[in-house]
Amino acid sequence: MIIILLGPPGAGKGTQAKRLEQYYHLAHISTGDILRSAVKNATEIGKKAKPYMDAGELVPDKIIFQLIQDRLSRPDCKNGALFDGFPRNISQAEQLQNLNIIKKDKKKFAILIEVSDQEVINRLSGRLYCPNCHKPYNISNKISKDKLGNYICSQCGEKLKSRADDDIKTISNRLEVYHQHIAPLKDYYNKNSMLKIIDGIGTPDEVFRRILHILEISSS
Ligand code: AP5
Repeated sequence: MIIILLGPPGAGKGTQAKRLEQYYHLAHISTGDILRSAVKNATEIGKKAKPYMDAGELVPDKIIFQLIQDRLSRPDCKNGALFDGFPRNISQAEQLQNLNIIKKDKKKFAILIEVSDQEVINRLSGRLYCPNCHKPYNISNKISKDKLGNYICSQCGEKLKSRADDDIKTISNRLEVYHQHIAPLKDYYNKNSMLKIIDGIGTPDEVFRRILHILEISSS
């Protein structure tokens, strides 16, 4: 099975990807997480990507596609993959469509999680994430703390961080970039009969149930 998660920043792609990964045992491929690790480790790719990410712009397609090909060559992708944050534009979608992993798989879905810009701003201003296992959190929910009062990851115990691109100016630019590219992407996946649109408002569990429901009726 191939699942592509589309949606604005803060729509809950990462949150739902964690659930879908466990449910379907798919390899979770998040270009944002891969890029953040590259920036943290100051790799060549990380150094090239950082200025684009800091500004809320798309990292050049050539870099992204290299990352995707490297990731897809790992053995955990043999049963399918869950793409989170990729593709972001038509050129990336076309490149993905030409890969064997997509060509040979009959069950493929592009799930667009829709939320308003105001909801994005509300969510991202309270977001924390685990720099080790990438689990997303929000300060509006209960989060575990260590003895010093730092927020920690319930999954691996790492101290949580906020993302460098979650300031209001960068969020606005990320939204603008998203709105520039989403209409052609919707058309593209609609023509390929892969597009499923989901309301992203509700608790993460409610949104997850909506996604499962649509995947199950579309697979049967
Ligand atoms: P990326 O990491 O992909 O960021 P994004 O698309 O902006 O999406 P986010 O990770 O911000 O949000 P999300 O939808 O995953 O939401 P989350 O689950 O965390 O990309 C970052 C940058 O990398 C880009 O700007 C670009 O520079 C570069 N990049 C990445 N991929 C690229 C590509 N393919 N091409 C070019 N450049 C690329 O949830 C957000 C918050 O909301 C959390 O606090 C969460 O707890 C909360 N939340 C989640 N669901 C709900 C809910 N149902 N109700 C209430 N709160 C919720």
